[in-house]
Amino acid sequence: MRIGLIGTGRIGTFHADVLSRHREVGSLVVADIDSTRVAEVADRTGSTAAPSVDEVFTWGVDAVVIASATSSHADLISRAARAGLPAFCEKPIALDLAGTLGALREVESAGTVLQLGFMRRFDAGYASARELVRSGRLGRLHTVRAITSDPAPPPAAYLPLSGGLYRDCLVHDFDILRWVTGREVVEVYATGSDAGPGMFREAGDIDTAAAVLTLDDGTLATATATRCNGAGYDVRMELAGELDQFAVGLDDRTPITSTEPKGPPPCDNPWPGFLERFAPAYEAELDAFLQVVNGELDNPCDGREALHALRIAEACELSRREHRPVALTEIPAG
Ligand SMILES: NC(=O)c1ccc[n+]([C@@H]2O[C@H](COP(=O)([O-])OP(=O)(O)OC[C@H]3O[C@@H](n4cnc5c(N)ncnc54)[C@H](O)[C@@H]3O)[C@@H](O)[C@H]2O)c1
Repeated sequence: MRIGLIGTGRIGTFHADVLSRHREVGSLVVADIDSTRVAEVADRTGSTAAPSVDEVFTWGVDAVVIASATSSHADLISRAARAGLPAFCEKPIALDLAGTLGALREVESAGTVLQLGFMRRFDAGYASARELVRSGRLGRLHTVRAITSDPAPPPAAYLPLSGGLYRDCLVHDFDILRWVTGREVVEVYATGSDAGPGMFREAGDIDTAAAVLTLDDGTLATATATRCNGAGYDVRMELAGELDQFAVGLDDRTPITSTEPKGPPPCDNPWPGFLERFAPAYEAELDAFLQVVNGELDNPCDGREALHALRIAEACELSRREHRPVALTEIPAG
């Protein structure tokens, strides 16, 4: 099939590599507003550089992969829907509810496919955790602890465009919490700290966040994130039930050192970042998308899932600002 890829930055370059090697992709058209970058990626992957994004919609592609900057997602999703094309889009659809809902309405009225890039759903550890919860081996699940720690802050210029730590980073934890447990978040109580590098304060953002989330069956979850985890990239989830407990993301590359005399040896090869830690998951989500396009698989992460995760992030921002618990019913759903 012929695939159009829009955006050839950090994640788009990774997707270009995966798509150009994929057995189902006969031809790949790449586009970016940065003509130098798109030419380099086209050259390296043997794909065709489109002169502009418009050609992606006029050159007869079978599907579109959107990996451009967040501010362009809603418009590109809508264009794909109006062209009748299935689309895969990196999270988020938009940084606000209005933009997210507008794009979803376009997709739903066109009846096209929109798959969202919540790649943790394709990670082996999270997939096992989901199975374990359903198998009953934990007994009643009572506590979930989710962690996302970036090794270093992004460039200062990124912060005003990011939507803040909850929408940009913890949104992955909110999605995977729903997916693993099969439950909905009903209330959040969140706080954040800007005590780290000054650029966070200047952008009105936080460098570290913590949230307590109550699920609809009474399970309690915590989600923490930081942009300043010098030990390395650390993404984990612990699930504790009445019968047993399990951990996702705990292996010999987890950047944490035990203080116990008989603890595991210190990690000497920590995950440097998301592209390394989740490489197999990014590959698997695109493989799934191509199967969806071929009609061989149901959409594993419909666009509506992004709305659910964004509403939890919105509730956390409101909770942090107003220093109070926020019920999800306070956040518009449509
Ligand atoms: N799922 C994940 O784990 C994950 C990881 C990283 C990034 N992302 C998401 O992917 C998107 C891209 O992030 P990135 O880190 O690759 O950013 P980046 O800045 O490295 O790359 C973005 C690219 O988009 C291009 N671009 C901007 N506006 C465009 C437009 N209107 N049309 C075409 N190209 C345009 C830019 O020139 C740039 O090359 C963001 O929405 C981000 O949230 C998701």
